[in-house]
Amino acid sequence: MIELAPSILSADFARLGEQVRAACEGGANVIHVDIMDGHFVPNLTIGPPVVKSLRKVTDLPLDCHLMIENPDEFIPAFAEAGADWISVHQEACRHLNRTLHLIKSQDCMAGVVINPATPVEALAEVLDVVEYVLVMSVNPGFGGQKFIPSTLHKMRQLAEIRSQRGLTYRIEVDGGVGLDTVGDVVRAGAEILVAGNAVFGHGDPKKNTVELLRAATEAAALKV
Ligand code: DX5
Ligand code: ZN
Repeated sequence: MIELAPSILSADFARLGEQVRAACEGGANVIHVDIMDGHFVPNLTIGPPVVKSLRKVTDLPLDCHLMIENPDEFIPAFAEAGADWISVHQEACRHLNRTLHLIKSQDCMAGVVINPATPVEALAEVLDVVEYVLVMSVNPGFGGQKFIPSTLHKMRQLAEIRSQRGLTYRIEVDGGVGLDTVGDVVRAGAEILVAGNAVFGHGDPKKNTVELLRAATEAAALKV
């Protein structure tokens, strides 16, 4: 099943509740929350208090994408604030297995993320631990960047490994997903589609969500 996860990074933060509600009305399945610390990525965003406020606005799962160093220090605070899913970067974790188990111990779904320059092979030992794998299709840090097509093969590879090894993780994609690229990522095997600029960057978030979901569902139907 294809799910759309609007990223609030491109939303108007002064009208965050309203914008998230609009995306929900359009059929969003998950709300993607980008957490940046100015160290792991060259930008700063939000922390647990905003997650706590979002929790009051929607019942959809809150997917917290941690682009931070030392994520172990903050995972309990995000879980406490109401995160349902928490993902960490392979590149940011010295003890990745321990960090993923910490997420699970907080009753959250655990995800692992790889940057465009990181191969799927780096995840071999944790694919049976995670509930989802997030393939970055831009270098993380900013919304509205151009999709990097060379990341598509990693979605295909993850789908192949999953069936070979009989695993159950879901495949998520993040960065540059819009009407022009949604077909490609769905055909490559992505199932959870993060979209920031394409949902909140222009026009009506509700309408944008409906259109993106329609395009994604059409591509998925043709794939089978
Ligand atoms: C990038 C973030 C993304 C970002 C995607 O570092 O992880 O979630 O919001 O934005 P778009 O869809 O605009 O590329
Ligand atoms: Zn993200």
